[in-house]
Amino acid sequence: MPIGTIRDLGSEGKTVLLRLDLNSPIDPSSNLILDDKRFREHLPTIRALDKSRVVIITHQSRPGKKDFTTLEAHAEKLEQLLGKPVTYVDSIFGRPAREAVHRMRPGEIVMLENVRFNAEENLTLKPEEAKKTHLVKKLSTLGDVFVNDAFGTAHRSQPTVVGLPLAMRSAGGLLMEKEVFTLSKVFSGAPQPVCMVLGGTKVDDSIDVARNVLDKGIADTVIVIGVVANVFLIAAGYDIGKPSAQLIAQLKYQPEIEKAKAILATYKDRVIMPQTVAVRENNCRKEYPVTKIPQNAPVLDIGMDAIHDMIGVLKKSGTVVLNGPAGLFEESDFATGTYEMIKAASKVDFSVVGGGHTAVVIEKMGLEGDFTHISTGGGACIEFLTGKVLPAVEALEQSKKIFG
Ligand code: 3PG
Repeated sequence: MPIGTIRDLGSEGKTVLLRLDLNSPIDPSSNLILDDKRFREHLPTIRALDKSRVVIITHQSRPGKKDFTTLEAHAEKLEQLLGKPVTYVDSIFGRPAREAVHRMRPGEIVMLENVRFNAEENLTLKPEEAKKTHLVKKLSTLGDVFVNDAFGTAHRSQPTVVGLPLAMRSAGGLLMEKEVFTLSKVFSGAPQPVCMVLGGTKVDDSIDVARNVLDKGIADTVIVIGVVANVFLIAAGYDIGKPSAQLIAQLKYQPEIEKAKAILATYKDRVIMPQTVAVRENNCRKEYPVTKIPQNAPVLDIGMDAIHDMIGVLKKSGTVVLNGPAGLFEESDFATGTYEMIKAASKVDFSVVGGGHTAVVIEKMGLEGDFTHISTGGGACIEFLTGKVLPAVEALEQSKKIFG
C-alpha cells in the first residue's frame, strides 16, 4: 500500500496527532454511548502508539443534529476500554488544549473537543485549501507527526482528513490499513453476481453510490430499503403518504428524488424497490402494497412480500454489500426487514457490511462471525467500493511523497 504506516513512522517519544472516528450512536438526552464498536476497533492503533504522546482528534455527528455533542463521554468510554487515563480537554486548539498537550509525557493520551465544533472542519475543501485553514495550521503545531485511523471519515474531504497530511509527516493507522486491504478484495475476484443493498437515512450518499456502482458495472443489482427506498418510491411515482414525505423534505432530500428518477430511467430493471411496506397505524404494524400507502401513517419498514423478493435476489448473489437498515429497527414491530435482510446477507458467500447502524444490529444478533467483513465505515465503505480513491487515502499517499 503506498500510504505510510505507523511501523515506519518512528513515533516513539514523539507527539502524535491521531485522527480517529469515534462518531457513534448515542442517547442525546444522556450522552450515553450506545455502541462502542468504533472505539474497540481503534484500540490496536492507540496501543501501538504507547510510547508516544497521543493527542486524539475526533468528531461526533454533524452541526444541526441532535447527537452533535461534546466528547467527555467518548473520553470516558475510551479510558474504560483501554484501561488507562484519557484526558478530555474542552478545546480544539485554544489555550487549554495547547497547555494540556505541552504538559503531556510519553504514554499519555489527551482527547481534544469535537473537531466539528470548529466551522472549518465542516467544509469540503481540496487538500491544498484544507492545508491553509486555521484549523490545520493550529492543530499541526500541536504534534510532530499525524496518524489517520479514521476510516469511517475517509470519504470526507475535510481539513483534518486531507489538510493535516499535507502539513505533517503522516501515516495510516492499523484500522485504516486493515479496512483498505480487506475492502480492496471486493474488486479482485469477488464471487459474482454482486448485489448492493442500500438503506438507512443517508440518502444523498446512497444515491451517489447507486449511480456509480451501476454505471461502472461493479454491482449487478441494487436493492433499496429504509429511507433510501422511500425516495426511490417517490421517484417512481408512488405516494408514500404525508409523514414519510415530510421526513424527506425535512432532511432536504428533494434533489435526491430527481437523481433517483434519472437512475430509474437508465437502470429500472436493476434497482429493486419494495413492493410492500409496513406503516404504523393505531400503534401497530400494518402492511400495504406501495400503491395503497395510507396518507397519515409513516412508512417504518419494508413489508413481508418485499422481504421475500429481496431475499430471493440475495440467494442468487455471490457477493453482497449491505449498508443501512430497512426500517425503524429500534422498535421490534419495525425491525423485521432489517433482521431478515441481515440474516439473508450473512449467508452470501462474500458478505461485506458498511458500519454504523447495520453493524450495531448484527452485533446484537450475534452474527458478526458470519460475515466476511464488517467495516467501521458506512459512507466510506460504500464509496470505497464504488472504486473511488478515498480523499483520506489520497492525502496520505501525497503526504508520503512530500515527507518520505
Ligand atoms: C460516519 O459515521 O459515517 C462518519 O463518522 C462520517 O460522518 P458524516 O457522515 O457525518 O460525515
